[in-house]
Order: sequence, then C-alpha cells, then structure tokens
Amino acid sequence: MDYSSLRLFIDNHILTVTINRPEKLNALNATVFTELDHVLDDVYVNPDIQSVIITGAGEKAFVAGADIAEFSHYTEEDAKKLAQRGLDVFFKIERAPKPIVACVNGFALGGGCELAMACHFRIASVNAQFGQPEVNLGLIPGYGGTQRLTQLIGKGRAMELLMSGQMIQAETALQYGLVNHVTPAEGLLEKAKSILSIIHKKAPMAISNCIKAANDAYTDYGYETETNAFAACFKTEDFKEGSTAFIEKRKPVFTGK
Ligand code: COA
Repeated sequence: MDYSSLRLFIDNHILTVTINRPEKLNALNATVFTELDHVLDDVYVNPDIQSVIITGAGEKAFVAGADIAEFSHYTEEDAKKLAQRGLDVFFKIERAPKPIVACVNGFALGGGCELAMACHFRIASVNAQFGQPEVNLGLIPGYGGTQRLTQLIGKGRAMELLMSGQMIQAETALQYGLVNHVTPAEGLLEKAKSILSIIHKKAPMAISNCIKAANDAYTDYGYETETNAFAACFKTEDFKEGSTAFIEKRKPVFTGK
C-alpha cells in the first residue's frame, strides 16, 4: 500500500511512523486513520518490527487534533461512527503486542493528545504542548481522551484540562506524569530509540504480556489478567532460557518463542 499521509522508516527493528500532513499540523482525517490501521495490522504480525515510534512531520506539531473541516457538518449518527473509528484504531495501538511510543514534537491537541495517550508511553520535546481543547468547539474528546487522561494524570487535573481547554507545556506534562521524559527537540527520537533498544533485549512474549496486564490496570479483572499473563510466560522457551541463564550466570539469548 502507498501511504499519502504517513511516512514509514524502519531501522534496528524500530518502525518510525510519521503523521505527514504538516500543512494541516498533521490533523487526523479519514485517510490518516485508514493508513494507521493498515500499518498497525502489519505491526502485529511482522517479525521485522519489534517496536514502533509515532511522531509528527514538521517542527510545529505532533498532531493538532482530529480534522475539524472533515466533521463540521456531521450529524449525531455520523459522529458516533467517527468516534468509534478513532477508538478502534487507538485500541489497536494500545493493545498492540509490541511497544508503541509517542514522540511528541509540538502541539498534541485533541485527537493528537488522545493518540499520544493511546501509545504505551510518551516522550516530549521541550516545545511540546498538550491539551484537549474540544470545549472551544462545543465538543468533548471522542477518541478516549476523557478516560485515558483521567487514568494518566488523575481526575482533578484531567477535569481542569478537559473543562478549561487549556494547554500545558512539556515540563508540566512531565510533572503530571503524562510524559515520561522531556528532551531537546533534536534528541527526541534518539531518547525513544535508546529506551526501545533496552526493551528489545528482553523476551518479546514477556513484553507483550506486560502490555496486556498493564492495559487492564483500571478494570475489575486486572489482577486476573496479570495472573493469566504471568502463567502464560511459563509456557515460553524464553522463560526457560531466562531462568536457566540466571542460574548459569550468563546473559540470556531470547528467541521470542
Ligand atoms: N483540523 C483541521 N485543520 C487544522 C487543525 C485541525 N485540528 N489544526 C490546524 N489546522 C490547520 C489550520 O486550519 C491551518 O490550515 P490553513 O493554513 O489551510 O488555514 C493550518 O493547519 C495551520 O494552522 P494555524 O491555525 O494557521 O496555525 P497556528 O500556529 O496559528 O495555530 C493551533 C496552531 C494548533 C493553536 C491552531 O491550529 C488550533 O487551534 N488548531 C485546532 C486545535 C483543536 O481544536 N484541536 C482539537 C480538534 S477536535
């Protein structure tokens, strides 16, 4: 498939996906969702891809939101379908069996903040700004923002951001726990790659089980998911290798089996 709104680059088994509509501050339209969906299908099954970075083209924005021009005339029914489409693609990111990191290089607003929050963790450049400004349009977030923001930064702070529509700078996002690290703009991708290179050395099934269990942290069955994911690791060759290597005082060699 040829991508008109994404740029893809793979290096050291890290796929970098760049949302590429800089003239519209990388706003998420139907094409971006279709293309992201397609890339994610490949991420799930392609053994050459061990992890993913999602970022935005240009220096100004990660993603400045859903494409407002596309939905301004929508009915309630259309809006439900639009929200469901966004949710589905973002769930596909969140539930991916491989780490997906958002590298936020500028505005992450509305659907852009929601996209970053669907990723497994976030790294921001010093010029990043986060916000859910939907109230300025007479709207609320529709791609999971009210839920994920509340989970990530707590209800009080989320309520303030959701209701005021105000943006926060990278340093505040770090203080709130919305992002894990803040870097100079030029070091953003390198920081993500250095963390991912550590993760790449671990057993892939253990990584996917971490993601599965942590994703259920705010459900009634999170502990049950953890127990099952923990037990599932015992079926893997990598667990045998990891525990044997520890006892034999050598480095494990994981194969993903
Ligand atoms: N949807 C569609 N187009 C968008 C967009 C969005 N969410 N965000 C930015 N754009 C477009 C602008 O319309 C403009 O296009 P044009 O040059 O054809 O007119 C272009 O991107 C550049 O944006 P501009 O507003 O001129 O840049 P700025 O530096 O003055 O302001 C923002 C930057 C991010 C503050 C401003 O673009 C903005 O408020 N965007 C909307 C944010 C938002 O409400 N997101 C949630 C949507 S639900």
